[in-house]
Amino acid sequence: MIKKFIILGPNKIEGEVKISGSKNSALPILYSCLLIKKEIIIKNIPNLKDINITLKLFKKIGIKIKREKNIIIINAKYININYFSSNLIKKIRASIWLLAPILIRCKKIKMNTPGGCKLGYRPIDLHIYVLKHLGVKIKYKNNIIKAKINKKLTSNVILFKKKSVGATITSILISIFIKKKIIIKNCSKEPEIIDTINFLNKCGAKIYGKGTNTITIYGVKKLSSCKYKILPDRIETGTYLVASAISRGKIICYNTNPNILKSILYKLKLSGAKIKIKNDFIKLDMKNKRCKSVNIITNPYPYFPTDMQPQFTLLNCISKGKSLIKENIFKKRFSHIKQLKKMGANIKHINNKIICYGVKKIFGKTIIAKDLRCAITLILAGCIAYGKTTIKYINHVYRGYENIIKKFKNLKIKIKKIN
Ligand code: UD1
Repeated sequence: MIKKFIILGPNKIEGEVKISGSKNSALPILYSCLLIKKEIIIKNIPNLKDINITLKLFKKIGIKIKREKNIIIINAKYININYFSSNLIKKIRASIWLLAPILIRCKKIKMNTPGGCKLGYRPIDLHIYVLKHLGVKIKYKNNIIKAKINKKLTSNVILFKKKSVGATITSILISIFIKKKIIIKNCSKEPEIIDTINFLNKCGAKIYGKGTNTITIYGVKKLSSCKYKILPDRIETGTYLVASAISRGKIICYNTNPNILKSILYKLKLSGAKIKIKNDFIKLDMKNKRCKSVNIITNPYPYFPTDMQPQFTLLNCISKGKSLIKENIFKKRFSHIKQLKKMGANIKHINNKIICYGVKKIFGKTIIAKDLRCAITLILAGCIAYGKTTIKYINHVYRGYENIIKKFKNLKIKIKKIN
């Protein structure tokens, strides 16, 4: 098991990086495959810990999987619910998406509540609301969920009191085969949700309104096989752009999609970066200048993503001026702050606000990664810090960044892993 990364800095982060397929698209699309009794071919699947755990879990419940590099061939003709493994479910948040497809295929399910990054209490009430609302009998106690379909699922209107990516996916999956029209209001419109809808529609589903606040679903009798390519990862793209910006470098991210990074690119431009985009690449050039700090408020898409908040906190730490970040999605996504302070950053943290007073330099220290985006932020910090940075509990980074060491070495970073 890889335990630590050691980075010698400061490094200038320059070069080219090929962006991988999106984790947050790959996961819901894989869980969608549980609804389909035919072979599906999915391309551009990143090799990540959460994907590997999902595939292990699928194999345990009888699903056939072939994997060749970034292509997965999946066949969920048979599902054997007896082989359910609770430990794997507890390791990832995405396992919540077992609920809807297994209920449809097997009529009942008993499972542990999912795990995932510790970003504060992560409730599942919106998932439960959707299922109950459509006629699922569901009990949820002592971290065990027991659910069954005790009557025919009925048509209805789902109105989310709050936007949730995960619960929007659950509501789509449970509605696919319901005979009448289902309307989902105040749903999320992240690009990864649109990608999942595109995939399901390619398999024969009738889902309308993608990218708006209201999705309408007309039930179909079955879904058929298809080939599908996953969207590029916008958070991985944003992370490499920030990496280069904070080191005053220039970088080209290719195999990406600039259209889904508008809020991130806007903040990088405000920070002083020169940005060029084409269909599938983004070029960033800092022209050797120090970044200007930027104010940020995280909110659901199309606004600024919470998954880029820690990386921009670091950007603000070493930029010119004072800045304010408001984290509106996760109550405890602040574990990077204590570690950045150890490295010399000047940060104040009050409730959901992060106030940074930019310093010119940060310094290598021994620091601890507590979750995925904290881990990558500390790696970026190590790249620009003066001296040696040792990052412990680095494994979190493998949940969301494919070939991280190889990609960083290609960018000429002095980084090594210690097993
Ligand atoms: C997904 C992403 C994650 C991203 C997050 C927000 C995946 C695999 N993960 O996570 O990378 O950071 O969206 O963009 O796609 N909430 C409730 N009740 C619920 C569900 C959620 O109150 O039943 C709350 C959460 O605590 C949070 C907010 O709603 O405050 C948004 O969470 P949600 O959009 O559901 O995030 P995830 O789907 O878990």
